[in-house]
Formats: sequence, C-alpha cells, structure tokens
Amino acid sequence: MNLLKELRERFRSALGTLVDNPEELLEMVRPSQDPRFGDYQANCAMPLGKRLGKPPREIAAQIVARLEWDEMCEPPEIAGPGFINLRLRTDWMATRLRESIQDSRVGVEPVETARTYVVDYSSPNVAKPMHVGHIRSTVIGDALCRILRFAGHRVISDNHLGDWGTQFGMIIYGYKHFRDEAAFAAAPVGELCRLYQLVSQLVDYHETRRRLPDWERRVAEREEAAAYQEAEALPAGGAERKRAAKRLRGLQAQAAEARAELAQAQEKLAAVERSPRLKSLVAEHPDIAQNVLQETARLHADDPENLALWHKFLPKCCEDIQRLYDRLHVAFDYTHGESFYQKHLSSVVRDFLDRGLACISDGAVCVFLDGFDTPMIIRKSDGAYLYATTDLATIAYRMRAFQPDAILYVVDHRQSEHFEKLFAAVRMWGYTDVELQHIRFGTVLDAKGKPFKTRAGDTVGLEGLLDEAVRKAHDVVRANDDAKPGGAELDGTQRRHIAEVVGHAAIKYADLSQNRTSDYIFNFDKMVALEGNTATYMQYSYARTQSIFAKGNIDVCRLRAADAALRLEHPAERALGLELLQFAEAIEETLVDYRPNLLTGYLFELARRFSEFYQQCKVLQAETESVRTSRLLLCDLTGRVIRCGLDLLGIQVVDKM
Ligand code: ARG
Repeated sequence: MNLLKELRERFRSALGTLVDNPEELLEMVRPSQDPRFGDYQANCAMPLGKRLGKPPREIAAQIVARLEWDEMCEPPEIAGPGFINLRLRTDWMATRLRESIQDSRVGVEPVETARTYVVDYSSPNVAKPMHVGHIRSTVIGDALCRILRFAGHRVISDNHLGDWGTQFGMIIYGYKHFRDEAAFAAAPVGELCRLYQLVSQLVDYHETRRRLPDWERRVAEREEAAAYQEAEALPAGGAERKRAAKRLRGLQAQAAEARAELAQAQEKLAAVERSPRLKSLVAEHPDIAQNVLQETARLHADDPENLALWHKFLPKCCEDIQRLYDRLHVAFDYTHGESFYQKHLSSVVRDFLDRGLACISDGAVCVFLDGFDTPMIIRKSDGAYLYATTDLATIAYRMRAFQPDAILYVVDHRQSEHFEKLFAAVRMWGYTDVELQHIRFGTVLDAKGKPFKTRAGDTVGLEGLLDEAVRKAHDVVRANDDAKPGGAELDGTQRRHIAEVVGHAAIKYADLSQNRTSDYIFNFDKMVALEGNTATYMQYSYARTQSIFAKGNIDVCRLRAADAALRLEHPAERALGLELLQFAEAIEETLVDYRPNLLTGYLFELARRFSEFYQQCKVLQAETESVRTSRLLLCDLTGRVIRCGLDLLGIQVVDKM
C-alpha cells in the first residue's frame, strides 16, 4: 500500500467539505522530516486559514474533525501555528507489513491507469568511439524501463542507434584509402575506429590550417587592444584609475586566451607534421573534407558500393556493442536505428512544407519556432537531411506503431536545445497529447574535473572500465572475506563471481545514485567501497539478511506462511517497519520526474534502518519465540525489498559476500 496516497485520499475527503479544489493542498501532506513530529505531517491549514480568513489552528482542528484517521493513526496533534502531525498506529503498520510479506510485489500495487511509454536510450553512434555518456544513457534508461514496468506501465524500449550519420562517410573514405586488411579481418571494429580517428585527424588538419590566419589575426587584434590600453596614461586616482586597470587586465586576459587557442591549433598541426607518414597523407588528401561528405551523400543516395560497405560494417559494429549490453544485462525491445527511418525523410519535409510549417531560406528547409533565435533545419541546401529530420520521422513512426502516452529520450544534456526545438516542432505538427521528455543527464568527469575519457576511447575502453571495476571489487571482496572472525568463507570461484556482480553493480549504482542532471566524478575506489551510498553497501546489506537465515537454518517459506504476528515494540523495529512500508511511495516519487537517485536514496535509508535494527535488536537470540519470528519476518521483508529495488535498477545481488 502507498501510505502517502492513502493519507492524501483521506485528506481529500476531509478538505472536500471545506474547499472546492483541495488538490494543491494535498501536496502539503508529506512524510515528516523529524520523527518527533510524527511520521507524516500536513501543513495545509496555514494557506487554507489565509484563504478563508480564519486562524490556521482553528482550520487545523476542523480538518482533523473531518479526517478519518481512527484505525490508521494515533489521534492527530495540532502543533505550532497549525501543523497537523500524524503518527501511524503500530498495530495498523503491523497488519500492512504482514500483507506485504504475503505479497510477491512486497506491498507495491500496480498503477490504476497504465500508460504506454516509449523509452529511447543508449543510442550510440556506431563505428565511432563510444564514450562513458553512452553507459550513462544505457544504465539510466534501463532502470527507468524496469521501474515503469514494475509500476504497471506498458514500456517499449528502443535503441535509436546512430547507424546512418556522417561517421559512415568517414569510415567509408578511410576504408577505401587507408584500410589494413589483416587488421580488419582480426578486429573489424578496432580497425574501423582507427580509420575513423585517422580520417578525422586529417580532416581536422586541413580545417585547422584553413582557419589558422583567423586565429593569428585575433591574437594580433587583442594584443594591440591591450597594448593600446596599456599605453594610455592612467587616470590620477580613485574609481577611474581602478576601472582602467581592470579594463587592462580584461584585455590582457583576452589576448592570453587567444594566444592559447592559437598555440593549441599550432600544436595540432605540428603533431601531424612531426609524423612523416601523416605529413604525406595530408598532402595526398587535400580535399578530404569534401570527399568524406560526398561518401556520406553517396551512401544516402543508395550508391551500391557504399551501401555494400555499410552492410559489411554495421553487423560488426552491432556485435561489438552487443557484448557490452550482455555484460550489463541490458536488452531492447527494438533497435530501430536512424537508417530505419530514411525512406520517410522526404515525406516529412514535404509535409512540413505543404502545411506551411516550414519555409525555404537560403536553399535550406527551415522550421521557425517561437522562442528560438535560430530555426530548426530539416533539409540542407545540398539536399541532405539532418539528425532532426530523422527524429521527426521517428516520432511519427512511434505514434503510429505504438500509440504512446509518453516518449522519454535519455540523452546527455548537451542535446537540450535539439530536443526543445524538436518537441516544439512536433507540437506544431499536430501531436499534442503525448508527453515528450528529454531525460537529460550531466557529464562524467575525471578526478581533475575534466570530461572522463577512457584510454582507448572506444567500446573496448568501455569494457576495460567494467574490467577495472571488477578487479577493484575483487580486492574489496577478498579483504572483507579474509577479515572474517572465523576465517575466510569463500573459494576462488565464489569470489570471482561475487566480484563480477559487485563490480558491474558499482558502475551502474554510481551513475544512478547521482542526481542525473548534475555532472559527477568517476571514482573506482568510491564506487566499490563497502561504506556509504554504494551498490557494494546495498549488496552487503542484502547478503546480511540472507546470512541470518543461513545461520539460523530457517525455512523462509514456512516462516512466511506461519500465522505469526508482527510486533514493532522496539523503536528500531518500528523505524524499519515504517521504511519498508514506504517502498511504494519511493517508486512513485522516482517516476514523477524520472529520477532513479530517489530510489537509491530510499534503499540507502532502508539499509541504514536495517543496520540500526540489527545492532539494537537480537534476531536469532531474541528473548522469546514470537519476537524472534517477528524479527525474522522483518529481515525477510527487508531482504526482499532491497533485492526488488536493486533489480529495478538493473543490479543483481549475491547471498554471501
Ligand atoms: N546517437 C545520438 C548520440 O550518440 C543519440 C540519439 C538519441 N536519440 C534520439 N532519438 N535523438 O549522440
């Protein structure tokens, strides 16, 4: 049962007799922050008093008089200016917990009205080095799919693979001119990534060379401006003098910035020129940038040679990515990549033009949108379609094929503007009653606060990341096992299996436990630590519940089936019981703004309550048989809620650690 929802229902009835529209007041019924003020608190008497021109305490008394609280709560208390403090009755909690124990969904009811969600996540650009951001999208997207499904919604997961973009022009060009046949046969994706990097380096070289005079000019201009300011006689004193000095410092900083940019560009060129091989390659391929564009254009125009190469490369790339998905236990209902929508792009553009939603400006087809300075371009002047065009076609397809109530895009925050424009265009296009959400997330940073880069910068690099986490986890598991008072309990195979589960979990949980919109620092040691809000700690807490049953030789099925009462006499038992009952609330909260960190936060709190309970209450050695049974039931439910919660995050558990 969702306690908060139940309480709000009761407040809805009570408030309904006082005001017409109690909805926003119901938001003010919340779990209380401080247990001294009860388990829940309602602060709605204050705004309502103001609205009705009556003293809030009087209003609070009226609400309480109308509130049906009897079997659920102790007599409500009115505190301070008119807070209503609610404390659940312990016998009522015990009955609800007993129901949860009997329930395979541990007390979480499915939503009353199921919605259909399309979740677009992972979506890497293939044949191009994959970055940690794609792990983030994969992990967050997978967790959201699981949570939505568990909540009772219909979920369609779709990997919008970037399999048609300009990177194919790069690798096709690279393959035609620079391929190493043996390397391609041995490790095709590695070779494609090498070609991608080589071609982009050559393209970049020419581009940098072309722009070098601009950078040089900028340095000269800024240095001149600074020198001019410096030569200017300083005003005699006071504020004027300070302002002039500040202006000079600003100009000098600008000049330094321009010099740094120029130096960076020069270094880029020098790096290529230092290598005799690269130097001759840039000389041999002066028009590489245009030629790469042409290769992409030819592919898009169904040129047989390029299409054959694409068909040759794509399966290799997909296999490579699949290895990563297998390790992460992530699967998709559909993998409709960008190429899937190509046949529809021309009709999308035509439709926008026919309906007067787009116009031609400088040869390009543009959609002008309210509130944006620049239009959304859906066809370039050379006839090429864009990322945005494909996304429009994708939405039309999804609406037709799945009739979703919502489409979620789990994509990094740098694409915010793309999605804002896309959603605005889609509304104009006539899709008004579908929820469209960009589930944005921040950047993964290294210890220095710079965007995190894997050494190899490709899927191999990402797999290396998982390997490293498993290695670190193995150290933690070994140290923990060796330190056991009765000596180590695990053999080598067990340790390796546990390390595998713990290591992968660490990467996922570190990602999910962050507020998704902020950047976060990637730190192996922190993520596998046994202390703190980590997967390791959660898995350890779960294993602890299981070890109690192993030690006491308890038959859990018999335990659950027995008609034993649950007792919440000790404060730590009650606190744990309350937390367990709040699982349904945590899931609902998580889905309000699609934030998995609210679920990890809940699980961490639950594990802490369990640890307090376990320290303060004897379980196997409890004073009486009935207390022992009741405590075992609490341990059982705790283990199940942790396991269920972790499963919703795509994280596995182990019975022993
Ligand atoms: N392929 C894109 C990238 O790697 C992400 C695609 C996200 N989904 C979408 N429908 N635009 O940046």
